[in-house]
Amino acid sequence: MTNKKQSAPSWRHYNFTTAGPVDDYLYSMLPKRDAVLTEMEDYATEHRVPIVGPAVASVLQQLARMISARTVFELGSAIGYSTIWWAQAVGEQGRVVYTDGDRKNAERARGYFARAGVSDRIAIHTGDALEFLSEQKHEYDIIFNDVDKEDYPRVLRLVEPRLRKGGLFITDNVLWSGRVAEKNPTDASTKAILEFNRKLYDSKDFYTTLLPIRDGLAVALKK
Ligand SMILES: C[S@@+](CC[C@H](N)C(=O)[O-])C[C@H]1O[C@@H](n2cnc3c(N)ncnc32)[C@H](O)[C@@H]1O
Repeated sequence: MTNKKQSAPSWRHYNFTTAGPVDDYLYSMLPKRDAVLTEMEDYATEHRVPIVGPAVASVLQQLARMISARTVFELGSAIGYSTIWWAQAVGEQGRVVYTDGDRKNAERARGYFARAGVSDRIAIHTGDALEFLSEQKHEYDIIFNDVDKEDYPRVLRLVEPRLRKGGLFITDNVLWSGRVAEKNPTDASTKAILEFNRKLYDSKDFYTTLLPIRDGLAVALKK
């Protein structure tokens, strides 16, 4: 188990809900990715970039296709892995907003977008994702939240007016490697995720499910 953990790709997260062979099975079932996405997965593993990986990315793309999403705002895009899955889902007429605070990430992402043939569907924004979201004047079909975990409660406050009715607010890492189940968590990220999950479920504006895939994915439908 320990050796396997060390050799596993970083984006696998070595799932704690479907540990071991079942997790291997789930990943073995996924269709092969194209050359650019495969290269990004390898780069993420080598450089410890925390991407969602193909299992979660497939869910993201499926959800986008299910609601015929044309516009996606992504908070926290890193090297643009999840962004490319969104861009493929929204189609040629669609638009995806990439945001990241790190310029080097954005430059790397730009290269991948060009090679994946989706540059014209993606607007790259470098800077604070929450600030940029707060400036948005129109409603998106999907808002995807993958920024620093301490900011999750603040993201929740910004999302509702910027998401269309029937749109999806999707958030990664909501089980935080199982730390959400600790008795008295002390670290700021776990506490913020707990607050976020509680408020999201309690919100009268959303119908929410926490999917226990990889590190936990919150899918909230705006009523
Ligand atoms: C988990 S990674 C994103 C991975 C990406 N969604 C994927 O799956 O391919 C989080 C990224 O969010 C960025 N980030 C964190 N807080 C941010 C903020 N407030 N504004 C902009 N970027 C932020 C970090 O620089 C990091 O690259």
